[in-house]
Amino acid sequence: MEVYQSVVRREFLKANAVLLAAAPALLCRAGGASGQSDEEHEDEEKELTPLEDLMLEHGFVRHLMLVCREGQRRLEANEALPPNLFVEVFSLMRSLIENHHEPAEEDFVFPRLVQAGALVGVVGVLKEQHRVSRRMTDKILSLSGKENLEKEDLRKELCRQLSELIRMYEHHAVCEDTMVFPEFRRITSAKEYEEIGGKMEQREHEQLGEQGMRDAAKRIAEFEQALGIDGVVQFTPSV
Ligand SMILES: [Fe+2]
Ligand SMILES: [Fe+2]
Repeated sequence: MEVYQSVVRREFLKANAVLLAAAPALLCRAGGASGQSDEEHEDEEKELTPLEDLMLEHGFVRHLMLVCREGQRRLEANEALPPNLFVEVFSLMRSLIENHHEPAEEDFVFPRLVQAGALVGVVGVLKEQHRVSRRMTDKILSLSGKENLEKEDLRKELCRQLSELIRMYEHHAVCEDTMVFPEFRRITSAKEYEEIGGKMEQREHEQLGEQGMRDAAKRIAEFEQALGIDGVVQFTPSV
């Protein structure tokens, strides 16, 4: 059994490395349609649509919340944490999610729904949660310094903030994946959808650069490795 798990784990790590290596092609949306070589056309077939891209970013959020949950567990159990874990995790949350993903939702997805009179109340709640998460990130970053982690009351407050943030993001992302994004797609024509994709792609390159998503994936993988929660096989229960 141990040998089997070891083999599966090696295969998973290999597959994960391949995924990260392929990230630039996988994470890049459609470019111009004319004057492309066969090679460029092949790349286009792997590109993501706007909602696939937003849902991939939700996958990144979920990874970051898994890291936060394990970090919180270690804090509560007085176990060692990788140095600066929460500072690094929430710096990435800020640049990738708060400054990139959420503005994309607020500028390209939510206004289209409100204009159509669809899910208006839900959109209002989600926008408020974006603002709340910014305030919570400020608070978590201010609590995450090494000297603060040595004080029990501040450690408890950090755990409380992490717990509430994880809970909010779990519900927030599920709501967007199952209600907001499908409704947005339903009311958006193919032409509008393509135009929005072009605008989102341009903004992504301006904000994060060509390697931005790949770098984010690599950093998340490093957080998980440092905490020993990388790979999915270890989470299969023995039955
Ligand atoms: Fe959101
Ligand atoms: Fe989102």
